Amino acid sequence: MLTLVLTVVWLAVAGAALVSGLDYYLLPIEERGFSELAALFSPTGLVGQGLGIVGTTMILVGVTGYSARKRFAFLGRLGPLSAWLQVHIFLCTLGPFLVLLHTTFKFGGIVSIGFWSMAIVVASGVFGRYVYVRIPKALNGGFLSLAAIRDEVSELSGNIAQQTGIGIADIDSVLRPRRAADPPSGLVGALAMALREDLGHRRDRRRLRSFLKDHQVSKALEAPALSLAAEQRRLRVQALLLQPFQRLFRYWHAVHLPLALVMLVIVTLHVGVSILFGYTWIF
Ligand code: HEM
Repeated sequence: MLTLVLTVVWLAVAGAALVSGLDYYLLPIEERGFSELAALFSPTGLVGQGLGIVGTTMILVGVTGYSARKRFAFLGRLGPLSAWLQVHIFLCTLGPFLVLLHTTFKFGGIVSIGFWSMAIVVASGVFGRYVYVRIPKALNGGFLSLAAIRDEVSELSGNIAQQTGIGIADIDSVLRPRRAADPPSGLVGALAMALREDLGHRRDRRRLRSFLKDHQVSKALEAPALSLAAEQRRLRVQALLLQPFQRLFRYWHAVHLPLALVMLVIVTLHVGVSILFGYTWIF
């Protein structure tokens, strides 16, 4: 539900901001200074500068909010870490989009380093999220141990066996990842395995459905058995990827965080210089 709300709000805000200034953004750079739209949509215009301020504020709130939630246990009362991460991603993608509109798609000078580091942080965030969601977590948001994942996998096998009446050994043999029997050796191998398993999801589901049909499992039991099996399949692949992905995530953190800091330092300088030059927006 939260994902749906955030997606709708994202599209509505980003769409409205883009459409309102589109006539200006589409003008050739040399004509922009003569357009009456410049007073509104140029980087120092009422709307243009406002987009920069609102976008930057969103990024600051998105980063500090999520960091605070990770570090202060009492904030746990305001929702699970996963929801805070969703809000982090919402604010830290919408904010950069509004900053992009603030630049009017014109980059240059020292500030462009800030812009491109922001773009790299966003891209690195997308990659980090891919890795992060593939590391199984406990209810408190901490990473699960391999033993805990294995316990969950066998509990799920037991549940499926109980629901369908099929033996656990048969279920395990059909649900075991096909090509991915051994943990991948390196980080690239781990990423390749994750992508392969993502792409093989539908095929495995078809295989399992025909397995359930062969064992005369009723239609009513098929859907819950399939969803338990999907969960189990996800966990089995994640158990194989656990060590390389935890390592990859640590390396990723060591890049994402400093880049975010570079970006924030340059943005701070940019804001300071703008204020010195008298661009104080509506204030
Ligand atoms: C301007 C954009 C962004 C900035 C400045 C930013 C900054 C940060 C910072 C500073 C952290 C570390 C928080 C901490 O450990 O205290 C973080 C974590 C994270 N960010 Fe971003 N981020 C941005 C965009 C994104 C995007 C677009 C995504 C995903 C699509 C993303 C996904 C993540 C993930 C998965 C974590 C790690 C969560 C964890 O370790 O608990 N970020 N981000």
